[in-house]
Amino acid sequence: MYKIVEARTVGLNIKQFTIQAPRIARKQRPGQFLILRLHEKGERIPLTIKSSDPQAGTVTIVVQAIGKTTSLLNCLEAGDSILDIVGPLGHPSEVKFYGTAVIVAGSVGTAMALPTAYALKQAGNRVVFIEGARSKEMVVFEDEVRAASEEAYIMTDDGSYGERGLVTKKLNDLLAAQRPIDFVLAVGPVPMMRAIARITGPLAIKTMVSLNSIMVDGTGMCGGCRVLLGNASKFACVDGPEFDAAQVNFEVLMQRNSMYRDKECQSLKHFQDHSTEELAELRAELAGKQIEESRFAVEQPTGHPGSLPREDALNA
Ligand code: FAD
Ligand code: FES
Ligand code: MG
Repeated sequence: MYKIVEARTVGLNIKQFTIQAPRIARKQRPGQFLILRLHEKGERIPLTIKSSDPQAGTVTIVVQAIGKTTSLLNCLEAGDSILDIVGPLGHPSEVKFYGTAVIVAGSVGTAMALPTAYALKQAGNRVVFIEGARSKEMVVFEDEVRAASEEAYIMTDDGSYGERGLVTKKLNDLLAAQRPIDFVLAVGPVPMMRAIARITGPLAIKTMVSLNSIMVDGTGMCGGCRVLLGNASKFACVDGPEFDAAQVNFEVLMQRNSMYRDKECQSLKHFQDHSTEELAELRAELAGKQIEESRFAVEQPTGHPGSLPREDALNA
């Protein structure tokens, strides 16, 4: 099991967790993600690794509660544990010198884009960061955004903080001011990434998007995360998650992402009506597992593969 060493709310329905996962922490690179499962009957969900600390053996993730699993996860606190974590998964971001690199991030996408923004800056790029959010309470990590960039803009839909308007407005403003832009990375809701692709495509600005398709196993086996790039099928988990925006069929992505919407809404409603019981059940299951794990660790001699937790077994 994976202990949560720190949990704090960073925005409206957005929580940051630092979790003990030493082997993932040692291997993680910007742009990679992990897949976690909260309990035996729980679904597996992908989350980007915001940062890792190999010395402390921890990884940090940021979670926006939008449905059942993310809402249950965001009820957890420091001292709780997560049942399963696999990672790091996916290709790291391609980090090289482009010139001026613009990062466009929407809501929790800011946390997902930060590691790549830092890496691009370190590679000598002039990084311009455009963070968008619905309103002030959803603006996250402003200090880090400023630290990772030479120039940062905060946009809110309702004008409650920063400038009023969408991230696309700011990108269009920069282009209208003839600012040179050599590379764009867009991370956020699919309509936002599609809108960015529509702006940069005709100008032939190299643009990458981080695709948030539905994932199950994260190893290319289940086909759940299939995306269409031109005429080719790709798996976001093993071929991505970042892809050339000009190639992505966003309509198919949106269609596939909404495939289970009715079930997801029912599941969230059920959770909202029974959140206290569900959290108590989860904690009871984890406490049982903890006892099982400590008994197993005593019985198994060190080095026996059966004693490896899943993260270790995959990376062994
Ligand atoms: P549900 O109500 O079940 O679903 C809500 C919507 O989330 C769905 O309509 C669908 O579009 C999407 N979704 C549902 N199940 C999955 C799934 N198994 N895999 C992917 N998407 C799903 N969110 C964050 O808050 N922080 C992150 O750092 C982050 N990183 C991600 C990295 C990758 C590579 C991907 C693919 C997604 C990432 N997401 C991230 C999105 C996150 O995985 C979903 O919000 C989460 O799975 C929703 O689960 P739910 O049960 O709470 O919501
Ligand atoms: Fe199963 Fe990508 S998540 S193939
Ligand atoms: Mg779900």
